[in-house]
Amino acid sequence: MNIAILSRGPYLYSTRSLLRAGVARGHYLQIIDHSNCSLVVDRDLPAVYCNGINLSYIDAIIPRIGASVTYPGAAVIGQFEAMGIFTSTRADALLQARDKLRSLQRLTSFGIASPKTLFIGQEQNLADVIDQVGGFPVVIKLLESTHGVGVLLAHNMLQASSIVEAFQKTGQRVIVQEFISEAEGADIRVLVVNGEVIAAMKRQAKDGEFRSNLHRGASATPVLLTEQEEEVSRKVARVMGLDVAGIDLLRSYRGPLVMEVNASPGLEGIETTTGKDVAGGIIHLVESKIAELQLQRV
Ligand SMILES: Nc1ncnc2c1ncn2[C@@H]1O[C@H](COP(=O)(O)OP(=O)(O)O)[C@@H](O)[C@H]1O
Ligand SMILES: [Mg+2]
Repeated sequence: MNIAILSRGPYLYSTRSLLRAGVARGHYLQIIDHSNCSLVVDRDLPAVYCNGINLSYIDAIIPRIGASVTYPGAAVIGQFEAMGIFTSTRADALLQARDKLRSLQRLTSFGIASPKTLFIGQEQNLADVIDQVGGFPVVIKLLESTHGVGVLLAHNMLQASSIVEAFQKTGQRVIVQEFISEAEGADIRVLVVNGEVIAAMKRQAKDGEFRSNLHRGASATPVLLTEQEEEVSRKVARVMGLDVAGIDLLRSYRGPLVMEVNASPGLEGIETTTGKDVAGGIIHLVESKIAELQLQRV
């Protein structure tokens, strides 16, 4: 098969790992920088050109779209979809997953538990919001945060109001969340591919830090999931329409709470921590979906 990895980082671990896994299974792999693509939006002959080459010969794409290029990336994926080419991440699913609030709204409407979350408008009374999430401490997050950068803990009103004010002044959208202290600075990252859990790790924040992002110096270990955690993770991937999903859970007194869903989960941490061939799992997903599509066509 001809498989294209959409990635702006040909030397990134995740891209290399997918390349290796695809070649190992006998496929032709190429890396395409989606920012170099031009899209022909046409009813009869939709196409994607990259460096002057028409990519209609591609059988499947594996998008690896960074948070800063979500919209242009989704446009390229959408164009491949219009051409009837299989994608391991659909454009609408990517866009939905990139919006933390939209994702939580969808998940909770399907009965999936998450930390209690409030979106705050510009004119809202902050004291009321904090009361509603159960009082201090509260987690304050930028909706567009990645790597834990826009995630802070506020212990009192003075801290909360100065954080919210600073965020809102720059026109950013803010959510306030109940702080799950019993998680003790740890979260669980679960990789679901093609509806099945294929790897999971526990990330533990370093001392004095509550954010368990590996970019913030957290350490990771393989973890055995409870049945409930597996079930919730599979359901999250299904509800979000993601064939490849990185799901972050907090272990709370009332069971697993979904914190966020990643549509383009990094492979380095999870593969090196668990020893699982996640990239191989993604290539396998592509193979089985293409086989299904071919069967439908006959
Ligand atoms: N409500 C919460 N209660 C406890 N810890 C939290 C909560 N929200 C976030 N954290 C911690 O902060 C980290 C970063 O938050 P997250 O929402 O994943 O933002 P980002 O997208 O920037 O990674 C999480 O991995 C978790 O360890
Ligand atoms: Mg996170």
